[in-house]
Amino acid sequence: MRPYVYITRKLPLEVIEPLQHDFEVEMWEKEDVPVPRDVLLEKASNAEALITMLSDKVDEELLQHAPSLKVVANLAVGHDNIDLEAASRKGVLISNTPDVLTDTTADLTFALLMATARRIVEADRYIKKGQWKSWSPLLLAGTDIHHKTIGIVGMGSIGEAVAKRAKGFDMKIVYHNRSRKPRAEETLGAVYASLEELLAQADYVVVLAPLTSETEGLFQREQFQAMKPSAIFINAARGPIVNEDALIEALKEGEIAGAGLDVFVKEPIDSHHPLLEFENVVALPHIASSSVETRTAMMNLCVQNVLAVLNGDKPKTQVN
Ligand code: DGY
Repeated sequence: MRPYVYITRKLPLEVIEPLQHDFEVEMWEKEDVPVPRDVLLEKASNAEALITMLSDKVDEELLQHAPSLKVVANLAVGHDNIDLEAASRKGVLISNTPDVLTDTTADLTFALLMATARRIVEADRYIKKGQWKSWSPLLLAGTDIHHKTIGIVGMGSIGEAVAKRAKGFDMKIVYHNRSRKPRAEETLGAVYASLEELLAQADYVVVLAPLTSETEGLFQREQFQAMKPSAIFINAARGPIVNEDALIEALKEGEIAGAGLDVFVKEPIDSHHPLLEFENVVALPHIASSSVETRTAMMNLCVQNVLAVLNGDKPKTQVN
């Protein structure tokens, strides 16, 4: 019997082709709907490799159901959907997709910052609704980006790539991270700050930290109250880093000036989500790394990682 590989979402055939030479490959055939849990558990029970999405929970239960599993290639740089400790205990290798998505994710993060600051989505809605009657001095006036202070929480490679873009806008860059980043300090003039200092100084607070037990719930009401009332909050990392009720209250009370959100606590959100009621919130459906080039590179990297492990090598981008 050829080793069995299960892919939890429909990927282009040309991407999975290299796997089909030596392995039995099956995919969940829907592009927009995640694989139901019972189907995933059943498929995992025969699989030597899984290619998973960030919406699939790879936990103790799944790993128990998968006695032959050797590798889980997660189509994301984040791997908070995976119980790494349980996987390591069971000798299952986990891989992710770092580096290939860095610039694309940074581009979108900066675009979200710009869209929120300059009210681009609101302006688009305004003109499409036929509300544009005349030029006027303060029509849809936003707030400047250049020469302001960006505060980056989580200075990994995506954080540094956002800082690089901010430097091009002559922004002052402060950052908060578990460790200092000498290269970013030297080349971009980024200044390390405690979270409290960063919140007090930043005109734009941009969250790019991974979701871990340390960052879960990092942004509560107190953190929003510590920001400038003119500050704009951007989250392109993971929803649960933010207490959404606290963010809603902060927006209601005018404690911050707006928010650009690519991620939410429970995804997908529906159109009645309270955060969508604010004109000064720009919401995106978790698309930071979503360019055709980058998503294709991410898929190819997953395939290479599976090929490596099933051929007895190490995955290129191993997490555990
Ligand atoms: C990731 O890779 O973790 C992103 O959130 C997916 O776009």
